[in-house]
Amino acid sequence: GTVKKIAVLPGDGIGPEIMEEALKVLRKVEDQFGHSFQFTFAMAGGGAVDRVGNPLPEETLSLCQQSDAVLLAAVGGPKWDNNPPELRPEQALLGLRKSLKLFANLRPAVLFEGLENASTLKQEVVKGVDLLVVRELTGGIYFGEKKREQLEDGEQATDTLVYHEREVERIVRRAFEIARGRRKMLTSVDKANILESSRLWRSVVNRVALDYPDVQVEHVLVDNCAMQLIRRPADFDVIVTENMFGDILSDETAMLTGSIGLLPSASLGEGTTGLYEPVHGSAPDIAGQGVANPAAMILSAAMMLRHSFGYEEAATAVEKAVRKVLADGHRTADLAGPGELAVGTEEFGDLVVEAMNAFEPDPKVPME
Ligand code: NAD
Ligand code: IPM
Ligand code: MN
Repeated sequence: GTVKKIAVLPGDGIGPEIMEEALKVLRKVEDQFGHSFQFTFAMAGGGAVDRVGNPLPEETLSLCQQSDAVLLAAVGGPKWDNNPPELRPEQALLGLRKSLKLFANLRPAVLFEGLENASTLKQEVVKGVDLLVVRELTGGIYFGEKKREQLEDGEQATDTLVYHEREVERIVRRAFEIARGRRKMLTSVDKANILESSRLWRSVVNRVALDYPDVQVEHVLVDNCAMQLIRRPADFDVIVTENMFGDILSDETAMLTGSIGLLPSASLGEGTTGLYEPVHGSAPDIAGQGVANPAAMILSAAMMLRHSFGYEEAATAVEKAVRKVLADGHRTADLAGPGELAVGTEEFGDLVVEAMNAFEPDPKVPME
């Protein structure tokens, strides 16, 4: 079969620890499903700032552009928090998303079997949660004009929230398509009572909706959505929203599942070169201790198998293996209850690899 080229960016904080577990699982996928991957490591984030003075070195960017997919763990940390914007680790992510034109960020949040009591919310509230946040990723306030000026009476800062209807339409269409393959319910989240960009957003959603009469659409204001996600989370199917609202709401959805250490993401454009990374960050508070939950990273690798390579069977096997490990009661520290014994990052990865054995490839499906 063909060799898939994967750019591997472990990044900062817990990044290298969780990346190692995802690679272990991918090597198991090679053995078990006969696929083959070529992993190329590259610097990004704070480590790259320290070594070459650039969070996204040219070499890393061109590697990613030439790869079939990018796996990124996390970037950032207190060490670089006071750096000027262009020397901040986060710039690596923004640069990659923008240059690879990855406008569609898929962030699924699912309550897994065995984790019914892991959320800080009541079991009866989180029961049945299975939603997907479709976050716009290359526009909005993240990428609009910014400035700092010194006025007579003090300093002033500006960030600009801009959306072109073309940018709104492509993400909204993607969300409708995805909703069509799920429970056919789409919640568009905006702040149309205040923001002009949201009024444009809403009108585009209504126009595109005419092409998807089979999908039920609702508009919800972002403040209300933040509340409804806690009140009746299982009612949501697909949520489509702009960049910053999606960033904030997806961290909120993490807590419906028990931990942000469980949430993967896929960032996609028009082509198939996607970027796959956990929703969480570099978790500086627990970095270097071997206790981080690698599930989000491993599940991001599964999303890569599905969305970039079309290896559905292998993707499903990885997802089932993660679910099995959790259903069997294994918990990293973020999920373990008080007094409950926790497994470390590495042990969790080993358990997933072992659990993969239960999901052998279907002999009827020819391998590539
Ligand atoms: P964070 O997501 O890194 O951590 C928030 C909390 O969740 C922390 O208590 C952390 O320990 C915990 N947590 C996160 N991932 C975990 C995991 N896999 N297992 C167990 N616990 C986990 O958010 P933050 O602290 O606000 O940000 C830290 C740094 O990460 C910042 O520099 C931020 O810019 C950066 N960041 C990077 C990304 C990314 O690279 N994709 C995403 C978000 C934040
Ligand atoms: C995320 C992160 C990033 C974002 C930061 C680190 C740039 O929080 O991927 O959710 O805000 O998009
Ligand atoms: Mn975020």
